[in-house]
Amino acid sequence: MFTSSDCTIGINFFWISLFAVSLHLLTTHNISFSKIRIKSLNDSNLNYLICADGILEKNVEFRGKYVVLKNYIIAKRQFKCLESVTLSVPGDYRFLDNIVPLVERWRGPISVALYAPGYDFYSTLQSIAYLRHCFKTSSLVKEYVTFHIFFDSDHMPQMHDEPLLNIYQDEFDCVQKPPWETIKDEEMYKQRTQLFYPINVARNVAKLNAQTHFVFPSDIELYPTRHFISKFFNFTQRHPEYFRRESRNVFVFPLFEIEEGHDIPANKTELQEMLKNNTAFWFHHKVCRKCHAVPESDLWIEEKETVGLKIFTSAKRQHNQKIWEPFFLCTQKEPLWDERLNWEGQGNKMCQAYYLCMLDYNFLVFDNAFLIHKPGIKKKKVQNIKYKDELKKNNQILRDISTELSKIYGNNSNCLIHNVYHIKE
Ligand SMILES: *[C@@H]1O[C@H](CO)[C@@H](O)[C@H](O)[C@H]1NC(C)=O
Ligand SMILES: *[C@@H]1O[C@H](CO)[C@@H](O)[C@H](O)[C@H]1NC(C)=O
Ligand SMILES: *[C@@H]1O[C@H](CO)[C@@H](O)[C@H](O)[C@H]1NC(C)=O
Ligand SMILES: *[C@@H]1O[C@H](CO)[C@@H](O)[C@H](O)[C@H]1NC(C)=O
Ligand SMILES: *[C@@H]1O[C@H](CO)[C@@H](O)[C@H](O)[C@H]1NC(C)=O
Repeated sequence: MFTSSDCTIGINFFWISLFAVSLHLLTTHNISFSKIRIKSLNDSNLNYLICADGILEKNVEFRGKYVVLKNYIIAKRQFKCLESVTLSVPGDYRFLDNIVPLVERWRGPISVALYAPGYDFYSTLQSIAYLRHCFKTSSLVKEYVTFHIFFDSDHMPQMHDEPLLNIYQDEFDCVQKPPWETIKDEEMYKQRTQLFYPINVARNVAKLNAQTHFVFPSDIELYPTRHFISKFFNFTQRHPEYFRRESRNVFVFPLFEIEEGHDIPANKTELQEMLKNNTAFWFHHKVCRKCHAVPESDLWIEEKETVGLKIFTSAKRQHNQKIWEPFFLCTQKEPLWDERLNWEGQGNKMCQAYYLCMLDYNFLVFDNAFLIHKPGIKKKKVQNIKYKDELKKNNQILRDISTELSKIYGNNSNCLIHNVYHIKE
């Protein structure tokens, strides 16, 4: 069941915990444990990496107060752990139309975790069926995208004829509109029962259930550059020094926003033209430029596009980059997001960047790969009075995280955790 070759020393904490979790499921829920092979890649240039190939299998996980239906709908194509990079994204069914441009650009495995309490579960299943059948690119969705669905254990969907695990019907009458066009926000179960969106649970579920060692945890509305995966593996061959097991490196995609009504730039050269004529900008340039601009950002923009991929610069999340919240490619060994933080209270992504600062990570910035947010520009800070209590709660949790990590790793005054969205009294 568990064949381990000559490299047991190499099993890092992640795999040990995966093993433990799977065993737990095996004993308590009688779910079969997928065969995991530990392999060494000593014979290739990636000779520092050890990872486990796994099979995507539908099963159930209890994660705090949430029930997770992992791999509820599984992509046709499966990958070995060093064969590709998984794009992992959190969300709910209202954002699923974004999967179309994502899969069309990424052309590799995508792991999506969807929050679906109560009857939102059924809207979610219908949205997935629409996505898998009613778009020109639906075959790509079927090929690459795996969906995980989760809900609060005290807001479970009502059961109809079939158990929840088997109720999904993979069909849709495409004459009908998808639920995300017909259901108003205020009609959603989540809104009616005033539940908060546990975005970090979604981020963690999407990342942890990726089949590959390399994962790119992103957001559902951020569109990556094309042909990235092959360029990245070419890069790993040329730079094995970044991929030693003890290395602390993550790989940053610079992030931009563009004016509504414009096409996503096809490559860096087009992006440069759009930056010059003011149709593209650093993400949130009016709200919090420093949260997203890379170090030496003007130079990044100036530098000409080249064919392959290389590192533009390496930085710590300190000094000028102290409040940086970049999106980056990482591996299964990097820390997750703190599940105490919700979406409404904001600051939920920062806990991880702060954690990496405490661990003295290098943030290596790609020169020719980047992200573009779905067209449309955020003009000013949202002062969401509605969620004032949640803002306060998240702020307190962020302070707690800082104290806890300082106790564990020691004080580091170079690392900053703070909620950039202040509360107006
Ligand atoms: C792995 O590769 C290194 C460097 O090429 C070599 O020194 C070492 O003996 C190899 N280990 C095994 C177990 O093959
Ligand atoms: C960028 O994309 C445009 C439009 O597809 C194309 O004409 C141009 O040759 C590309 N430039 C580079 C450097 O790849
Ligand atoms: C800006 O540049 C882009 C890319 O070359 C082009 O498609 C667009 O039409 C330009 N917009 C304006 C307002 O000049
Ligand atoms: C990597 O890409 C470069 C161009 O950037 C190319 O010359 C080289 O052959 C590629 N190497 C591999 C192993 O694909
Ligand atoms: C770390 O910082 C806290 C708060 O500033 C302080 O109370 C504590 O003594 C410091 N610990 C060490 C080991 O310097």
